Amino acid sequence: MRNRRAALAAVAGAASLALTLSACGQNSEGGAKEDKGSAKGGTIGIAMPTKSSERWISDGKNVVKDLEAKGYKTKLVYGEDDPDQQVSQIENLITQGVKALVVAAIDNKSLNNVLQQAADAKIPVISYDRLILGTPNVDYYASFDNEKVGQLQANYIVDKLGLKNGKGPFNIELFAGSNDDNNTKYFFGGAMSVLKPYIDSKKLVVQSGQTNMTQVTTLRWDGATAQRRMDDILTKSYKSKKVDAVLSPYDGISIGILSALKSDGYGSGNKPLPVITGQDAELASVKSIIAGQQTQTVYKDLRKLAEVASTMVDDALNGKKPEVNDTKTYDNGKKVVPAYLLQPVSVDKTNYQKVLVDGGYYTADQLK
Ligand code: GAL
Repeated sequence: MRNRRAALAAVAGAASLALTLSACGQNSEGGAKEDKGSAKGGTIGIAMPTKSSERWISDGKNVVKDLEAKGYKTKLVYGEDDPDQQVSQIENLITQGVKALVVAAIDNKSLNNVLQQAADAKIPVISYDRLILGTPNVDYYASFDNEKVGQLQANYIVDKLGLKNGKGPFNIELFAGSNDDNNTKYFFGGAMSVLKPYIDSKKLVVQSGQTNMTQVTTLRWDGATAQRRMDDILTKSYKSKKVDAVLSPYDGISIGILSALKSDGYGSGNKPLPVITGQDAELASVKSIIAGQQTQTVYKDLRKLAEVASTMVDDALNGKKPEVNDTKTYDNGKKVVPAYLLQPVSVDKTNYQKVLVDGGYYTADQLK
């Protein structure tokens, strides 16, 4: 990414409102910050998917904080899990003259047109945690090693059930995330690379028979949707059987699954709760782990993700090549998007104190 100002000047002839504002070094809030040749003082647009999950609220706050510390103004919007709303929010941000966009997509394929508008206005786009597909107009991707997330969940199940020691067979049910989120196939693929050999050897049995990703996705990662599916599976496939493990890709889904299990009598009498995984180390799930309900989650340090994304913005706007550590994995159908991937960590009752509390992610009081 070369000098943005030069690039902006070059296209100034085709001036849209956005370009006019950017070229003058002004911003949507009318903050007349002096522009000394860099985009500092300009506004960065941040489009997050939903406030219904705690993690995205933290993401929004963290990215705002980091960008402000680097001298930018910010406009943070949430799309309430409605792809159309997210498109019009991003359109508005472009019209308001943002200098760069940080986007966590709701539907990874719905942003092509609006990102063309961003490209026309020379606005760099950082795909935040979820890769945007089908457009060349994504400059960088900041995320975690998403395949590893799935492997951590599946390896946890394997260890906890003692499958490597020859124990089994056990009953397992599989859940995947939203089919419009590119991460879903990485999480599920990573998990299945570990679980499939045990399914093939019948040490793990999926009584519902639902093992293809298309059968097990959960639109918009909705916990209530997962709860209904688990209810249904328990009624149809577990009348006289017991579930021993549930692969869940995300804490909000785990909570829905747990509700279905508890309504069916799991967690009391001779029906112990199954091993149940998760992701994001959301507060409610960490408390659930401490209480012995959910078994595991995958912690992703969102403070680091925000730092990576805002450094990418700052570098891209200042003619510096952002640091990446993966230039192969994330092909969005139009290009391989250069990525910086952080490492996820498996957390359960035995290490939450060390990882989450000593690591400063939560205070001991928050977990009470
Ligand atoms: C994914 C993300 C997960 C989880 C999920 C539901 O894209 O990588 O960490 O947050 O969305 O929000």
